[in-house]
Amino acid sequence: MKTKIAIFASGNGTNAEEIIMHFKNHKTIAVSLILSNNSGAYVLKRAENHKIPHFAFDRNMFYKEKIVDEVLKLNAIDFVVLAGFMWLIPERFVKKFNKKMVNIHPALLPKYGGKGMYGNFVHEAVVKNKEKESGITIHWVNEAYDEGNIIFQATCKIEPSDTPEAVANKVHKLEYEHYPKIIEQVILHGR
Ligand code: GAR
Repeated sequence: MKTKIAIFASGNGTNAEEIIMHFKNHKTIAVSLILSNNSGAYVLKRAENHKIPHFAFDRNMFYKEKIVDEVLKLNAIDFVVLAGFMWLIPERFVKKFNKKMVNIHPALLPKYGGKGMYGNFVHEAVVKNKEKESGITIHWVNEAYDEGNIIFQATCKIEPSDTPEAVANKVHKLEYEHYPKIIEQVILHGR
């Protein structure tokens, strides 16, 4: 039996796409489910294109009615990957998927993390503060935004002329290069 991954994403889903492609013909790991808190998110279209079951939910279904928990159970999900998912993960979920849930953050945590620091807001802050480098952080998920133990970081140089879009492009490149491989590593080796 393969290890079944569920990917949570809120928007475009370019990371989700890379992860789907990485595990397409994998012997022991499969992307089995795509979930989004946004029924209009392009990531759901990507799931459809790859014929992967997908599901959109609202706040009640996630935080109160525990419907997302049921969907994961019904699909026998073993491992959760957050890839551009912008909501806080409820504590019961963190407990259920202890050391079985990872997130990627588009900066070098602990810098530029926490509530409100996501997507382009991160890159805008990095440029505004004239940082010389940025990068990615892949970490375990706990009940606070961006505070779980760090598994992996990679850096990129920021030039004084770089716009937030230019930084985003550099960071996305790092994400695509490393996130699928690190997910595979932690599933196979536990860290
Ligand atoms: C990614 O850069 C990811 O690191 C970031 O959102 C982007 C999603 O892009 N995640 C966060 O900011 C989480 N705090 P994508 O939808 O194209 O994969």
